[in-house]
Amino acid sequence: MTDKKEYQKKLAEFNAKIEAEVKIEPKDWMPDDYRDQLVRQISQHAHSEIIGMQPEGNWLTRAPSIRSKMILLAKIQDEAGHGLYLYSAAETLGVRREQFLQWLHEGKAKYSSVFNYPTLNWVDIGAIGWLVDGAAILNQVSLQRTSYGPYSRAMVRICKEESFHQRQGFEIMYNMVNGTKAQQEMAQDSLNRWWWPSMMMFGPKDNESPNTKRTMDWKIKRESNDTLRQRFVDWTVEQAEFLGLKIPDPDLKWNDKNGHYDFGEIDWNEFYEVVKGNGPCNKERLQNHRKAHEEGRWVREALFEYSKNETEKN
Ligand code: 3HC
Repeated sequence: MTDKKEYQKKLAEFNAKIEAEVKIEPKDWMPDDYRDQLVRQISQHAHSEIIGMQPEGNWLTRAPSIRSKMILLAKIQDEAGHGLYLYSAAETLGVRREQFLQWLHEGKAKYSSVFNYPTLNWVDIGAIGWLVDGAAILNQVSLQRTSYGPYSRAMVRICKEESFHQRQGFEIMYNMVNGTKAQQEMAQDSLNRWWWPSMMMFGPKDNESPNTKRTMDWKIKRESNDTLRQRFVDWTVEQAEFLGLKIPDPDLKWNDKNGHYDFGEIDWNEFYEVVKGNGPCNKERLQNHRKAHEEGRWVREALFEYSKNETEKN
């Protein structure tokens, strides 16, 4: 059989699996572009989890109580674990973790823009849990149905923990809005600063997204950026009303015709500037990551030597 015929046969078998919702596994044949899309998305997802630990870690030593410190510590540890699952899932595609981290350090890999904003006070930890983890849950529940087996299974595990993250954030917001006037004002200020960066987490509009068509054809992405963003708005508006907080969007209005909230235009210039590396904290986040990676080199080398000796012994 010629190479071309052989390729067409394998591609037909691959597409039949995708069609039949059969998970693609690491050892299965897959088109190079499918593999490349997965390497791109899963590794960036992993980077987001790890970089996302920084804004929250900023308030660990200043948590207002032992209970809130324990909860935040557990959440940050969860995010590290999410990064681990996702780097491990990405490595099944034949790229080593060191390579992912090198691309990140060289500015060749992305992570979620939302983590390039500063956490100015404790309420921001609440807004991140409520809004950022809330947005992440919507995206990740959808990704549980992704066609690549290791990614789908990582999502199932991550979503269980993510729901706890969203609740702990909402509890902080609830306590603040039921506190003093100053605390209520802090909660509103935090919502004002985190609302639009959370909306940007879902990515560009569908008609501006270079990856969505391809990744949805292959069922990597199961719902589009705009669909998930709309669901986020519909969910969160009612939660904000319950908290007595006002979403900072003058164009937000219930639309009886389509049964959703209409909302205002995202500042796409801000979005692309932050994605390009010009956000408030981009440089600091990458510097911290490079520094931590360098400081941890001796641990990795010791572990590598140990495992090499163990392998030689057996
Ligand atoms: N921040 C940074 N880059 C973004 C972005 C954002 N908010 N939204 C989109 N982009 C990038 C994309 O990576 C892509 O660039 P690339 O081709 O160089 O990778 C470009 O902008 C165009 O966007 P597309 O919509 O075409 O890209 P995707 O089809 O990949 O969709 C996505 C973007 C919806 C973020 C998708 O990549 C995805 O679902 N990723 C996995 C989930 C994820 O990363 N979630 C957010 C962070 S995880 C988190 O919040 C953890 C929680 O515990 C705190």
